[in-house]
Amino acid sequence: MHRERTIIGNWKAFLTIPQAEALTRHLVAGMPAFPDGMQVVLAPSFEALTEIKEEITTTPLKLGAQDLFWEDQGSFTGEVSGRALAALGIEYVLVGHSERRQFGYETDGIVNKKLVAALRNNLTPVFLFGETRIERDEGKTEEVITRQVAGGLSGMESDELLSKIIYAYEPVWAVGGKAANDVAATEAIARLTRELLFEKAKKEFAYTFIYGGSVDTTNAASIARSSLIHGAVVGRASVDPAAFISIVQAFLSSA
Ligand code: 13P
Repeated sequence: MHRERTIIGNWKAFLTIPQAEALTRHLVAGMPAFPDGMQVVLAPSFEALTEIKEEITTTPLKLGAQDLFWEDQGSFTGEVSGRALAALGIEYVLVGHSERRQFGYETDGIVNKKLVAALRNNLTPVFLFGETRIERDEGKTEEVITRQVAGGLSGMESDELLSKIIYAYEPVWAVGGKAANDVAATEAIARLTRELLFEKAKKEFAYTFIYGGSVDTTNAASIARSSLIHGAVVGRASVDPAAFISIVQAFLSSA
């Protein structure tokens, strides 16, 4: 039980606006046709959102932001609200990326407030969680995932709400082109996540679970073959148009 595949390109802070526009034009030109239910989402940095929106208006590609603030408006210098993103026509937003969680910028409590703010503004949140290398080596992976998922979803109990969120497992040690987690290990986290969600909602429901961390052209096909993994969040390989298209193709072939 899950939605169709979702593949997200997280462009992080890799590109200037002209570079982001050029990348988008390459992607639009080379992207294979994909079925309605499949989602391919581009997540540029804030300053490029308007330009990229223009580039993809007549295409099936969707737009996501990399973060949002938890209040809708007010005296919050430097922040970008979910309300502002929704007004811009953004549909997706990343929440709780490890690069934002590190240094304590984002606690589970903050992630929770951001998830609530995204849903309040009718944005689809992509809720990221994952353990660090040290936590993994100490055998704490399940404990960390359980804590992050429970903390992020605090106060959300209904399947209606929980099914609106995309669950993205990104082991921190696999992010940045180091080494992808293996599929079996990701499937174990997929099962744990499913258990936590169904326990919370007290029923089974359709949800989307995707994987992030060094997804590239060499491993996308094996990830895509898993029935427990419904898509990917791609960092570095998503700013290489040929690589990103080939990753989308891998998920398309296995759909
Ligand atoms: P890489 O694909 O570069 O490992 O980045 C993953 C990521 O952080 C996506 O959000």
